[in-house]
Amino acid sequence: MTEPADAATRRAPHDQPFGPWVQTTLTEGWDPEPVTGHPAVDGAAEAAAAHRAALLRALPGRTVVVPAGTAPVRANDTVYPFRAASAYTWLTGDQAEGAVLVLSPAGEATVFLLPSAGPGTLTYFTDRREGAVWVGGIPSAGATAQRLEVAVRPRTELASALAAAGDVHLLAGVDADVDALRPGAASTELARALDRLRAVKDDWEVDRLAEACAATARGFADVVAELPALLAGDGRRGERWLEGTFWRRARLEGNDVGYSSIVAAGANGTSLHWAPVDGDIRPGQLLLADMGVETTSMYTADVTRTMPVSGTWTPVQRRVYDAVREAHLAGIGEVRAGNAFLAAHRAAQWVLADHLHRWGLIDWSADDALHEDLTRPGAGAHRRYTLHSTSHLLGLDVHDCAAIEGAEYLATTLQPGHALTVEPGLYFQVNDRTVPAELRGLAVRIEDDVVVTDGAARVLSDALPTDGDDLVAWMASAQG
Ligand code: GLY
Ligand code: MN
Ligand code: MN
Repeated sequence: MTEPADAATRRAPHDQPFGPWVQTTLTEGWDPEPVTGHPAVDGAAEAAAAHRAALLRALPGRTVVVPAGTAPVRANDTVYPFRAASAYTWLTGDQAEGAVLVLSPAGEATVFLLPSAGPGTLTYFTDRREGAVWVGGIPSAGATAQRLEVAVRPRTELASALAAAGDVHLLAGVDADVDALRPGAASTELARALDRLRAVKDDWEVDRLAEACAATARGFADVVAELPALLAGDGRRGERWLEGTFWRRARLEGNDVGYSSIVAAGANGTSLHWAPVDGDIRPGQLLLADMGVETTSMYTADVTRTMPVSGTWTPVQRRVYDAVREAHLAGIGEVRAGNAFLAAHRAAQWVLADHLHRWGLIDWSADDALHEDLTRPGAGAHRRYTLHSTSHLLGLDVHDCAAIEGAEYLATTLQPGHALTVEPGLYFQVNDRTVPAELRGLAVRIEDDVVVTDGAARVLSDALPTDGDDLVAWMASAQG
């Protein structure tokens, strides 16, 4: 038998066909579905309107097209959880899968939404993407228009709208179907303009980052509270337990994580993005936990603390920790309006290099190690142990605004509203013959999220202490 045309869009081979009798009865007897879908984020629509106005000023005279994207396939007909493209959310306050924003040169914003198949259609039952019984309630066009304060049209009208538009600039690489509608419209200029604007946060965005940091601090407290029980038991696969603990706190509060949590005990911390997260937790180890909550607004924190799991430092752990903390404070001290983005990096790396020199790990002075002439012997000598840059921009994306070209990004002059991390670290690999035995397998990183203001930097993640004594006191209090 055949099913109506609206019913056979996205099916799996194990799906059963519908007979004629059931096709009829399934589409009858329904009240309208309650509108659910994404919760509205307070203030998001107003902030987005201001963001659109800023984009129009930066790129006058163009039609701008920014898709939300679709969830990538995980396997066959199952997909990863959907997360809207950051630029789409920044410009609309919305997070609907498959939606596309078209912004006219006159500033008229239209969001083209995927159809939502509600009760009364067979698609309601048959389509894994559009059918509300599969994916949950999909906000109606009317509700979306009211919430976002923009015009809303069905996505089926997008092709004709784009064909009629003049100078179209498209954020490409987000939605392949949209890219195909205007292949010549892919605009690096748009991608860069968006990320330049997104780099400087308004007050609403700073509040969202502060929320993410507060939620992250609660997750860290939950993680620390689990340590005594893990250590009292066999501690096996303890990293996984702690990773799950952080994620559970995020999910309980309606949030998610902004990146895969890095929960690394002992020498696992020397792998920067320790991905297995399957190690044991043993007494006396350091735990390097790099975790960030992404709230329902999609802004994320990115915070690292390195903690002695047993609550006390060994002398060598404390020595390395205090060196990284000194670098961390030196870095934060350079985060102010008018300073170079790289000032924090240079200050932090100088402190680390100086300690490495005094400990005898590098033969070169900090000035030699940090010399800007990279062809000089000794230039970069510290990098064997410091591994990564000190800062990156932070916002909707953990590594925010990556469309800005490297030279421009690094040459940024800080201004109020720039949000960035300060995250120096020292890492001593277990197989590094240049490292004395007592240091091998030690890894320390301290990472805070910082906003540039008119005065001193505002550290959004300071609910979690960084002083070595304060940190273990906080751990003890979190463990009750
Ligand atoms: N969590 C990755 C980073 O700190 O950049
Ligand atoms: Mn970071
Ligand atoms: Mn991090």
